[in-house]
Amino acid sequence: MPRAIDQWWRYPGYAFRVLGSEKSFRKNPVIGNPRFNELGLHRERVRLAAGMAAYRRRLLGVSVSAAEREAFQRDGFVIRENALPADVFQRIRDYLKNEPLPAREMRQGQTVTRMTPINRNALGKLPDLARFSNDPSIAGLIRYVGGIGGDPVYFIQTVIAEPAIQEADPQTALHADTFHSSSKAWLFLDDVGPDDGPFVFVPGSHRLTEKRLEWEYRQSLVASADGRTHHAEGSFRITPEELSTLGDFTPRKVVVSANTLVVADTYAFHSRAVSHRHTVRVELHAYHRGNPFAPLPLSATALVPGLRDRRLDIFLALSDRKAKRDGRIPTWRDVGACTAYSEPHI
Ligand SMILES: [Fe+2]
Repeated sequence: MPRAIDQWWRYPGYAFRVLGSEKSFRKNPVIGNPRFNELGLHRERVRLAAGMAAYRRRLLGVSVSAAEREAFQRDGFVIRENALPADVFQRIRDYLKNEPLPAREMRQGQTVTRMTPINRNALGKLPDLARFSNDPSIAGLIRYVGGIGGDPVYFIQTVIAEPAIQEADPQTALHADTFHSSSKAWLFLDDVGPDDGPFVFVPGSHRLTEKRLEWEYRQSLVASADGRTHHAEGSFRITPEELSTLGDFTPRKVVVSANTLVVADTYAFHSRAVSHRHTVRVELHAYHRGNPFAPLPLSATALVPGLRDRRLDIFLALSDRKAKRDGRIPTWRDVGACTAYSEPHI
């Protein structure tokens, strides 16, 4: 193991990060260590994280309706129709169709994802966005589904499928985002039909069963050497055959009308459906992840005034600096100001 000899001083850091949300079997040689995982390191992280999420969820559930709690317990996701008042929704859609805002883009095979941060600049130009990013009922649901306290990160997301480009999109394979509950939310600005490259979700696959735990254990023994990059980095891919051994699961296309909010626990298996035609899907999006082992649903970022709406900008600035230092193009490329519905720039 030349890495152990050359970089021994890094090991305390690798070991410390086992106590947090770090997930990569390839980048963290402690998390990816087959011997440690044979002894149950990954399995116990999964088990403990699920227990803590269930505990925090009991506290977070007080701000969620009984019907939405029930939907989550059953399916692992919640669908809320007519999520915004019709006039607010209409103004947001009209603005995003016509007015440019500073954006970033990332390409994964035939899919381009555009991220338009909902920061002070965007909120200043379109105050209606706060009805999404500052709504206690939406934030409460996102926290409950992810089983994590604190503030989600909000942005406008555009997903553009270009089937003419014959390259696979890694997000079209069924996967769990990481080894613990976390949540993502999408408020769709347009109807999403079965052929519009909808979100695919496996209802009920958010539950940690003995079979799932055993599957996690088996993956952990070999994940660090797996040829599938995302799998090796801790976002486990699962084949339909493997899924059928874990229980009676049927993947479902989440077909929705405009102004529907979907909030999902991304520990459940999910994917993007392959799009066979050119599609542009625009959503108000939230991403929420935290330390899976935190005992209480609190937020460290809430302690710093003004940080809440700037976290994404800070993250992007740091990523740009790191990419520049490493002499590579940043993952999220700055494409200047453009409308959310425009065609890709990369
Ligand atoms: Fe995912």
